[in-house]
Amino acid sequence: MADNQSTPRQPSRREPVLTPGGVADQLSRLELPAPSNLNLEIPNRSNLPPAPDSAISTTSIRSNDTGDISGPEPEYITQARNKNRSESVSEQLSAQLSKMNFPQPEHIFGPNEGGSAAAKERNAQNQGVSDADWARVQLDDEVPEAVKEPVRMTHSRNVSRVDAATPSHASLQPSPIPEGTETAAVAREQKITPFDVEGGVDADGKETGIDYEKVVRRFGATMISPDLLERFEKLTGHRPHPLLRRGTFFSHRDFNLILDRYEKGQPFYLYTGRGPSSDSMHMGHLIPFMFTAWLQRVFNVPLVVQITDDEKYLLERDAKKQAALQKKIKAKKPLNLLDHYHKMGQDNIKDIIACGVLPEKTFIFSNLSYVGGPFYRNVVLMGKTLTVNNVKGVFGFSDSDNAGMFHFAAIQATPSFSNSFPQIFGERDDIPCLIPCAIDQDPYFLVTRDSADKLGYKKPCLLHSKFLPALQGANTKMSASNENSAIFMTDDAKKIAKKIKSHAFSGGGATQEEHQRLGGNPDIDVAYQYLSFFEDDDEKMKSLSDGYRAGTLSTSQMKEACIAKITAVVEEFQKNRAAVTDEILHAYQDPTRKIDPRPVAKTQE
Ligand code: TRP
Repeated sequence: MADNQSTPRQPSRREPVLTPGGVADQLSRLELPAPSNLNLEIPNRSNLPPAPDSAISTTSIRSNDTGDISGPEPEYITQARNKNRSESVSEQLSAQLSKMNFPQPEHIFGPNEGGSAAAKERNAQNQGVSDADWARVQLDDEVPEAVKEPVRMTHSRNVSRVDAATPSHASLQPSPIPEGTETAAVAREQKITPFDVEGGVDADGKETGIDYEKVVRRFGATMISPDLLERFEKLTGHRPHPLLRRGTFFSHRDFNLILDRYEKGQPFYLYTGRGPSSDSMHMGHLIPFMFTAWLQRVFNVPLVVQITDDEKYLLERDAKKQAALQKKIKAKKPLNLLDHYHKMGQDNIKDIIACGVLPEKTFIFSNLSYVGGPFYRNVVLMGKTLTVNNVKGVFGFSDSDNAGMFHFAAIQATPSFSNSFPQIFGERDDIPCLIPCAIDQDPYFLVTRDSADKLGYKKPCLLHSKFLPALQGANTKMSASNENSAIFMTDDAKKIAKKIKSHAFSGGGATQEEHQRLGGNPDIDVAYQYLSFFEDDDEKMKSLSDGYRAGTLSTSQMKEACIAKITAVVEEFQKNRAAVTDEILHAYQDPTRKIDPRPVAKTQE
């Protein structure tokens, strides 16, 4: 297991390189089972428990294989059918666009900005992820749980980012506390990777939730300071969004550099994404996109949105769940499942559009449809910068995980490089992006930042958000399959009111009398928290929380205030969503549509 303990900084050079010949050699010295039972594990790992079943059981495919080729229409046929329709929209769009005055991409900003000797030197001083950053990533658990205990992994990848905030430990096998550590203050460290999010557990077995400051320290990011927010407001003339000024977006990497560019009128762009998961998205899924849409309007810059339908297929490690899904959709072979994820992604894109992203400045793409051309070149460049050690260390993969997962990091990294989008930036590769994302996605961009320097590209900058609480409060799970755990974007006013009234965790007193006597706690009150995501009026928030603490404002009054706001937000969304036709869906994804990358001229003060 020694190979798993190397940090990403230690390149694989230290290990014997496993060439195909080397593997064959090792295999030849083993007593091999009959070929039909071959389990291609590396020999020195054979003392580990067997690898989980592969995601898709071939036997179940076979038993379903009736030779019937009816079923969902293949994507390419649908696309061909839609082509004519979407072409007319594309034509209209391009007619409009042709009237606009685009710069040559080379001239977006100055002659090869960033290429000057001085700029190069500046870059050189700022190479890659510092050793200290890497060290921090590895700080708490050099050997990720997943690597130590491949079969005991939680599969919280199948819950949304919001679910992940409050993982259900029911799915966890009891993790024994190692001997001799019973007296330690912490029984289990919190763990945050893009695939598993678990709060810590203290010595008494009590869940301690997620310590965000600790995550930030460990990831080597920076907390968003009041000064930074002040600078944002001064430069943009906009009050920071409630999600930003009330700390849902709480940490960053190099946000100040983006503000520098904004100040100087230099171009940059926004990048975010989504792994499609369920056809009906809930509030927690969409809040990050609402925030991103707001940010795009404030900065007036291009936005690219990556739909990782490939990721959903590759990285679903819960074989049972994937098999159940496969059965449900009557998939006859893996391809049908892949198509299913693609379709969910298309539905999700409509929701994302309805969050208010700017049509003329937004490109949304499904990996399964778009990856190729200049984008794929960057995937290749990026892929070569990642070692298996690196990926294992950062993401906690084990040797029994599929090879596609190891490579996927390169695909999520690639939209960070501007020349992946020639229709926006031409061949310019020196336009940096700002990535708003949940903190668990940071490992992807930590490796991206390291590789950017090796590739001669700009490092992406980031804004990190916390996970959003479910209706039932901090230690419960918001789940697409649990109707009452979340507000769905399809819920009507009546349903929203009912859900908040009967399910939103209350920080109020146990009885009305007690509430009046002792007051309530808005900090753990879900209605208050949900309201705080959207209510711009600080005075109003303050008077609600003061009243609540004093016991003069009741739980039901708090809930009423929340219901009014959330209903308004959801209704606005639904209005937008109803207007998203298939034509619009395709127009956003049209890779030939030109997008003007120029920043707005800064108005003179
Ligand atoms: N991996 C993300 C998810 O599962 C999707 C994603 C791709 C993403 N690129 C991103 C999220 C950039 C945030 C920022 O949801």
